[in-house]
Amino acid sequence: MKKILVIGAGGQIGTELTAYLREIYGAKNVIASDIRATLHPDLMEGGPFIRMDAMDSRQVYQVIQREKAGQVYFLAAILSAVCEKNPEMAWDVNMGCLNSVLRVAHELKFRMFVPSSIGAFGSTTPKHNTPQLTIQRPNSIYGVTKVAGELLCDYYHDKYGVDVRGVRYPGIISNVVPPGGGTTDYAVDIYHKAVKYKTFTSYLKEDTFLDMMYMPDALKAAVSLMEADHDKLHFHNAYNVSAMSFSPKMQAEAIRKHIPGFTVRYDIDPVRQCIADSWPDIMDDSAARHDWGWSPDHDLGSMTKEMIEVLNDRFHKGK
Ligand SMILES: NC(=O)c1ccc[n+]([C@@H]2O[C@H](COP(=O)([O-])OP(=O)(O)OC[C@H]3O[C@@H](n4cnc5c(N)ncnc54)[C@H](O)[C@@H]3O)[C@@H](O)[C@H]2O)c1
Repeated sequence: MKKILVIGAGGQIGTELTAYLREIYGAKNVIASDIRATLHPDLMEGGPFIRMDAMDSRQVYQVIQREKAGQVYFLAAILSAVCEKNPEMAWDVNMGCLNSVLRVAHELKFRMFVPSSIGAFGSTTPKHNTPQLTIQRPNSIYGVTKVAGELLCDYYHDKYGVDVRGVRYPGIISNVVPPGGGTTDYAVDIYHKAVKYKTFTSYLKEDTFLDMMYMPDALKAAVSLMEADHDKLHFHNAYNVSAMSFSPKMQAEAIRKHIPGFTVRYDIDPVRQCIADSWPDIMDDSAARHDWGWSPDHDLGSMTKEMIEVLNDRFHKGK
């Protein structure tokens, strides 16, 4: 089979996606790559790794040609809260890396997965059941790069026939690698603090609803879309995918079922609150369900149970 290259494999999604792809397609067929020199030990030991700067299109070209990669999962990016601290770097990295890899995809003709985000929406977007096609006027620089990225992918698909596909991920909750500085990071941290200290300080207000997804569903979405029949896809970048919608207060209540006495205080970060207020509560993902059979396996209850079990084992039983 043709090889698969994961660009940005060292991050929150890339670490678990690489392991998942290796399980499906075989370890030697899935190459991890990142600008970082070292990744999670399981990833470094579990298969091939190439250190690569995605911004350098010559290096990207050489690696993909040499390895004969037929699919690229492109995850290199800077996330929302970090972007806001350095907007120039946000644009340079998020657009520069994508542009560089799309140019190579045009020449070498591989299939590409490029995730967008709920961050591609803004305060003028309908917040509830956010349609697939709707107003996209984000007020964060991260969102600006996500909308521009969606359009650039569509351009390469329509103009040059590049088979580029993507989803708009909600906030992703996971327990292997910490999140990389997004607005929804609190929803991961709350589990760590609940298990370790039985108390948590939230930087978002208790009634801030956001669209969220557990990592196993995020991995399933990526691979299902990449395996889908091209002719059935009405969209390329990017399909809305949803799994659950909750507020910090609701998440705390779900945690209390397993950790009685868990408390939350609120110390609001105005920057992240403003970004969260402009993002959807929940997206309408009927196009993904119709075109390639998307359906999530986890809700808040099942995710909370599993997150607490895994973190309890890690922190209290040393597993
Ligand atoms: N995590 C989420 O909740 C979430 C939600 C919506 C969308 N997304 C999108 O999914 C993608 C992956 O997100 P993530 O959470 O894994 O991000 P992350 O920040 O955890 O990981 C990004 C990885 O990209 C690497 N990288 C950065 N610049 C690079 C470069 N020049 N060359 C090669 N690698 C480079 C980083 O070293 C890092 O390992 C991003 O496009 C992000 O916008 C993530």
